[in-house]
Amino acid sequence: MKLASLKYLNKYFWKYRWRLIFGVICIAVSSWFAIFPAQLIRNGIDMVIEGLEQRRIAGEFALAGELESKIFYGAMVFGVLVIATALLRGLFTFLMRQTIIVMSRLIEYDLKNEIFEHYQKLSLSFYKKNKTGDMMNRISEDVSQVRMYIGPAVMYTVNLVIMFIMTLGTMIAVNAELTLYVILPLPLMSFAIYYVNSIINQRSTDRQKQLSVMSSFVQEAFSGIRVIKAYGRENDFESQFETQVKEYRNRSLNLVKVDALFFPVMGMLVSASVLLAIYVGGIRVMDGTITPGNIAEFILYVNMLTFPFISVGWVTSLMQRAAASQTRINEFLNSKPEIYNTPDSLDLKVQGTIEFKNVGFVYPESGVVALDDVSFTVEAGKVLAILGRTGSGKSTIANLVGRLFDVTSGEILIDGHNVKTFRTENLRTSIGYVPQEVFLFSDTIFNNIGFGLNATDGTLLEYKAIIEQASKDACVYDNIEEFPKKFQTLVGERGITLSGGQKQRISIARAIIKQPQILIFDDCLSAVDTETEDQILTNLKRVMHNKTAIIVSHRVSSVQMADHIIVLDEGKIIEAGSHKELINQQGIYADLYRKQLLEGRSEKVSES
Ligand SMILES: Nc1ncnc2c1ncn2[C@@H]1O[C@H](COP(=O)(O)OP(=O)(O)OP(=O)(O)O)[C@@H](O)[C@H]1O
Ligand SMILES: [Mg+2]
Repeated sequence: MKLASLKYLNKYFWKYRWRLIFGVICIAVSSWFAIFPAQLIRNGIDMVIEGLEQRRIAGEFALAGELESKIFYGAMVFGVLVIATALLRGLFTFLMRQTIIVMSRLIEYDLKNEIFEHYQKLSLSFYKKNKTGDMMNRISEDVSQVRMYIGPAVMYTVNLVIMFIMTLGTMIAVNAELTLYVILPLPLMSFAIYYVNSIINQRSTDRQKQLSVMSSFVQEAFSGIRVIKAYGRENDFESQFETQVKEYRNRSLNLVKVDALFFPVMGMLVSASVLLAIYVGGIRVMDGTITPGNIAEFILYVNMLTFPFISVGWVTSLMQRAAASQTRINEFLNSKPEIYNTPDSLDLKVQGTIEFKNVGFVYPESGVVALDDVSFTVEAGKVLAILGRTGSGKSTIANLVGRLFDVTSGEILIDGHNVKTFRTENLRTSIGYVPQEVFLFSDTIFNNIGFGLNATDGTLLEYKAIIEQASKDACVYDNIEEFPKKFQTLVGERGITLSGGQKQRISIARAIIKQPQILIFDDCLSAVDTETEDQILTNLKRVMHNKTAIIVSHRVSSVQMADHIIVLDEGKIIEAGSHKELINQQGIYADLYRKQLLEGRSEKVSES
């Protein structure tokens, strides 16, 4: 058992220690009120029996009436007392749940926040290595398993110990031999429950696994619905789904079969105890060792004891599951971000000079050499363009500047300092990055563009003018104004579907809105026509005046205005210079230029 992993949670128990202590007191009090009525009942029954005996002896004497009312009122008093203790027990059980279960919810909340915060710190390579579903499971499924340990398991363990000690003590005081007989079947019950529970857990995990397989399948079918329909593969998916559901059904039935065993097994063992209490107890009453009230009392105790014994089995399996979950959580919490601030990170402001010095980069997971001995310099305020075939390493350069990855060899200098010396927040907030694959949040267009500002949602409205200006500079303002809800239009999963070019331009607006020192455009003009492209690039010159820009593209048209152009091939720079120089070199760039120029002409011809 990996119970040691649960130690991690002790810091939270310490944080909520007062709540925990109060909870334990409530458990003790409520347990005491649970046991106490049994004694009342024993005394009550014995009193009534004794009273009836005296009444029989009294016969027809005048005393009889007095005795009857004495029995009646005595019984009444005991009855009221039993009700009163039941009420008090209820009150303390309520308080116990209010403290312990609420504590478990608070810890669950803290733990989720802790995990999420940690997730955000981890580097991109962590996200490459781990599946999204897996990460989501740890924060939802695993945390709830752990919560079952913090709440119910802790509560029932304390409850169990207290109940057990108190009940057993009272029972032995009444009659040790009877006690022994009565509790004999109970450990068997603990074991049976533990055993049945383990099978239940195993089977419910199996079912859970199938459920996630099924939901990933459905999710993919929904997000890929266009492709499925376009290829006419609906029937195929339907039958695949049917297979998955069948498997799910079988696993559910497997689970239900053992689940159904649970209560009968328990009931049988409890009945065995009760039977023993009556049988052995009856013999002892005839001996005169104990009273009939004692038997009633014992039956109540047996019923009370069943619960702790059930809990032993149940809590043990709860703890095992929680420990397994916590082990998984710890695995993630212990993974260190590869890119982080060191104590001597400098609080430098970025000016914008970027220098690559013999940079090499290998993607650790695939071993692909994405960059090999790449060197170039962009002065602050200048525009660098990167051109190259697909897979040549353009996006890799873009990612390295913002330190989303660290170089494998060589170094990257910004304003003459190694990027690693900058505080990552300083570095990244100085960079406006338009990724190649556009990602917009399921939110309004307004908030998506405003996202670039680092402002909290509440203050965003003050930036209305800036947000509109950014959308104008990105040439998407007119499109937005045409939507019925304008800037308040929802995009992403819940909202309207934007065209590829519209998305790209919103993404551009988001990047330029804060007028960053360094702007990186990763092939983000691919889905807009050349005219709009020209317009955006012209606007950019104004917005990005005196700011550094890196523009990645396939098209010569988007790079010719750059101060410096590099052409990449298989991770190496094969040509570099200004547009003029490169044309004069008559190399690959000039070749591309000619071809694309021709294409551009034919486009114009077909348009007219
Ligand atoms: N996250 C990654 N993990 C492993 N290998 C990667 C990763 N990203 C890119 N690569 C590999 O690194 C090489 C360079 O990729 P990169 O994305 O930089 O190319 P690119 O020039 O941007 O291409 P494109 O024009 O298609 O966007 C490619 O061979 C690619 O397969
Ligand atoms: Mg790319």
